[in-house]
Formats: sequence, C-alpha cells, structure tokens
Amino acid sequence: MGKQQREISASEFFTKNRHLLGCDNPRKALLTAVKEAVDNALDASEEAGILPEIVVKLEAVGEGDAPPPRISEATRFRVTVVDYGPGIVRQQVPRIFAKLLYGSKFHRLRMSRGQQGIGISAAGMYGQLTTGKPVKIISRTGQNVPAHYFEVQIDTKKNEPIILEKKEIEWESHRGTQVTIELEGRYQKGRASVDEYMELTSIGNPHAKFTYVAPDGETRVYPRTMQQLPEPPREIKPHPYGIELGMLLKMLQDTKSHWLSGFLSTDFSRVSAATAEEICKAAGLNPHKRPKDVVGQEAEKVYKAIQATKLMAPPTNCLSPIGEKAILSGLYKQI
Ligand SMILES: Nc1ncnc2c1ncn2[C@@H]1O[C@H](COP(=O)(O)OP(=O)(O)OP(=O)(O)O)[C@@H](O)[C@H]1O
Ligand SMILES: [Mg+2]
Repeated sequence: MGKQQREISASEFFTKNRHLLGCDNPRKALLTAVKEAVDNALDASEEAGILPEIVVKLEAVGEGDAPPPRISEATRFRVTVVDYGPGIVRQQVPRIFAKLLYGSKFHRLRMSRGQQGIGISAAGMYGQLTTGKPVKIISRTGQNVPAHYFEVQIDTKKNEPIILEKKEIEWESHRGTQVTIELEGRYQKGRASVDEYMELTSIGNPHAKFTYVAPDGETRVYPRTMQQLPEPPREIKPHPYGIELGMLLKMLQDTKSHWLSGFLSTDFSRVSAATAEEICKAAGLNPHKRPKDVVGQEAEKVYKAIQATKLMAPPTNCLSPIGEKAILSGLYKQI
C-alpha cells in the first residue's frame, strides 16, 4: 500500500470530479463555460471602474476536419467571450487560464461573483479533456502597449500551465480580454440554456452591454440602460459570530496585534475596545496577553466568551444589492 500512496493534484482530482465544477453533462458544461467567462468579465470591469461591455459568441464546430454539423446535433462548440475591461498583465495569463486555484479574489473579504480562482481554468481544462484543444487568449492592458496572444493547456499532473504559443499581435481593441474555449457541449433553447442565461444576466446587470451571437449566427444586442456602475461593495472584517474555533486559532496566530484585546477589536467587525475588554474578562484572560500565546483551552474560553457577548449585527455595506432603480430598468428592458 505504501508504494501506491502519493499526492493527487487539484487538476487530477477535478478531472474525475467534474460535476463539482458544473460540468456534469455537455449542456451544462457549455453554460458553465459561458458563465465563468462572463462572471470574470463583469468582475474585472467593475473592479476597474469600467462600464462592462461583453461579447459572447457560440459556434458549432466539427470534429477534426469534418464540417460543423447541424446545431441541434452538434457535440462540439467554440465559446468566445470578449470584454473591454482592464485586461490581464502578460505574466499572469498562463496561470489564470491554465492553473486551478489561482486568482485575485480568494484571499480578500469582498463580495464578487467569482472567488475560488478555479472558474475559468476549470472551463479550459474541461475543454482540453473533451476536445484536446488549448485555451486561446488575447489580452491587452492599454492603448500604448501591445496585445498578447496565448495558447495554453494545463499539465494536469502538476497543475501548472503549458504555454503552446505566445506572441504579440495586432488587436482592434484598445484594452480588454478575449478567451476562446473549444469544448464538448450541447446547445438547447429554453430553461437553463445559454440564451436564457444571457437574457437574465442582462436584466440583472443593466449597467452592462451584452452582444450575444447564438450558434445559428443570430446576433442579439442587450443594451445598457443604466449609465453608472453599481456602488462598489466594501471589504469587511469577519464578524465574531461567523467564525469557528479553528479559524479563531489561526487568526490568533496570524494577527499583527500584540494584545488579545487589540486583536479582538481590530481583526473583527463590531468589536469596540470596550467590548474586547469585556470578552477578555468573560474568558478570564488578561487583555494584554499575546495573541500567539492564546492556544488550546484558553482559545476555547475566548471562543465561548465571544458567543456569550452581545454584538451588533455586521454592517450591510459589504453587500452591493442591485437596487430598485436598476432592477426595474433591467426588467423594463427585457420583459
Ligand atoms: N476577463 C478578465 N479580465 C481581467 N482579469 C481576469 C479576467 N478573467 C479572470 N481574471 C483574473 O483571473 C483570476 C482567476 O479567474 P477564475 O475565474 O479562475 O477565478 P475567480 O474569478 O477568482 O474565482 P471563481 O473560481 O469563483 O470564478 C481572477 O481572480 C481575476 O484576477
Ligand atoms: Mg471567475
């Protein structure tokens, strides 16, 4: 047994458990690929303060050199999503698109559509598994710099990118990102279809403009009806009621505070200096104790004292709800 025991890479794990990534069947896989790319385009544009403009194109493709079959029978699709957002710096492109669990949103405490750093690389890996084709990317971060073209694949054993092609190219867009994934998929209309997703996404994001080219070549434009970006969500510290003991133990070790009371009031939301003292007292601990020395039984006492202390509910400005005006604007546009 010992000889057979070895590490399993994240990519190997998800290759066998693709349902965890939303790729249980070809119809869902197509929708997931579109959604992951659109989510990223919306997140990136909003974060950069740019009103999102996104193009989604689906094309049926034949296997090998065969011509594309009828759309209802097609089993292979090329998904292309273009945004005019901030673009991606050249060095990051291979890891963003061909390494699972790599991203900018996981370690921060701010609301966004994406979080895990697995969305687009998983969609690309599914494409690679089912068609053998690499992910193709064009990205440009500004008018005064060139656009870069990449073709990448994942080395699933190592969960590391393999760069098959990398060059500067001419690109009509001044800024933004284009990703193309070829994958095994099925295109259907109706419930949970890409068509429905595009319509609902446009309703829910009236500050974005979408152009959707369906596999039959029909182009639908969903115009922008709100000319301002939604209020950006604020980053928030964890609320003491929302953490488990293991998390508290880790935070005690990682904190920059020198005192237990300081740790409680600076690393959490809704804990004032006075409340921090109160918690320390309830736990029977010196407020000036070094957080790193609060372990085992003592940490458990702090944990219990937190639960027993009355605290204000967390602030809600960490959320950016769509708001009445925007949802109405989206609904009037489509329905
Ligand atoms: N179109 C884009 N423009 C700019 N940056 C992007 C774009 N797409 C992806 N990124 C960057 O690549 C990272 C990885 O994307 P990916 O979709 O894999 O993960 P995520 O969006 O962080 O989380 P999730 O797995 O929940 O989607 C993002 O965190 C973001 O920093
Ligand atoms: Mg994402």
